Amino acid sequence: MKPGRIAPSILAADFSRLGEEIATVEEHVDWLHIDVMDGHFVPNVSLGIPVIKSIRPHSKLFFDCHLMTTNPDAYFPALAEAGADLVTVHVEVFPDPRPVAALARANELGFGIVLNPITPAAAVEPFLDLMDVVVVMSVEPGFGGQSFMPEVLPKVESIRKWVDSQGLPADIQIDGGITPSTIGSARQAGADVFVAGSAIFGAPDPVDAVRALRNELS
Ligand code: DX5
Ligand code: ZN
Repeated sequence: MKPGRIAPSILAADFSRLGEEIATVEEHVDWLHIDVMDGHFVPNVSLGIPVIKSIRPHSKLFFDCHLMTTNPDAYFPALAEAGADLVTVHVEVFPDPRPVAALARANELGFGIVLNPITPAAAVEPFLDLMDVVVVMSVEPGFGGQSFMPEVLPKVESIRKWVDSQGLPADIQIDGGITPSTIGSARQAGADVFVAGSAIFGAPDPVDAVRALRNELS
C-alpha cells in the first residue's frame, strides 16, 4: 500500500483567517481538502470558486475539491481556472460517471468518485479504472464534526481488494470523523488518504494534531 497521506478539511478552519490556517499546516500535510456544498445535494452551504481562487496563490498543496453539489460538472472549467487539482463528485449524482470523468480530464483535472455511507461499493466497481481516487464517506456528507461510522470499513476493504487485484493506481480516501482513535482502523481496511477537519483545525495546535494522526499510521 502507498504511504498514508493527510488531507485537512478547511471546512473546520476559521474562515476569517483562512490563509493563516492553511499556512500553519502547509508543510505538515499532503493534500488540502476543500468541501464545496450547494444547499441542494446536502443541507448546507459552504464555500465556492472565489475562495479557492483566493487561497491558490498562498499554498502549494494539492487542492482536492469535494463537490457536494447537484451539477458540479458545470463548474469544472471555473474550478480548473481557480486552481483545483482534483475534483471528486458523488456517484449518487452520476450513477454512470464516464462522461463526467471525461469532462474532468478535458479540463486537466484529476477525478474521483465519492460514495455516501449508504451507497454500496458495487456502485463504483465498474468504474475504478477511471479514477485517481475513490472516496468513502464515513459520515453523512454536509457537516464536519460528526462521529466516524465504522460500518463503512468493509466497503473500504472491498474497494482496496478490487483496486489491488486489477493493479489500478486509484487512491482510497476516507472522509469524515477521522481522529487519532479512528484513523488506524481506516488504514487497516485499506485507505491511504485521510481527510480530517475538526481533528486538525479544531485542535489547539493543528500541527500537533497532524502528528498525532500520523503516529497512528506508523
Ligand atoms: C463532510 C465533509 C468532510 C468534513 C470532515 O461533508 O465532506 O470533509 O469536513 O470533517 P470532520 O473531520 O470534522 O468529520
Ligand atoms: Zn469532504
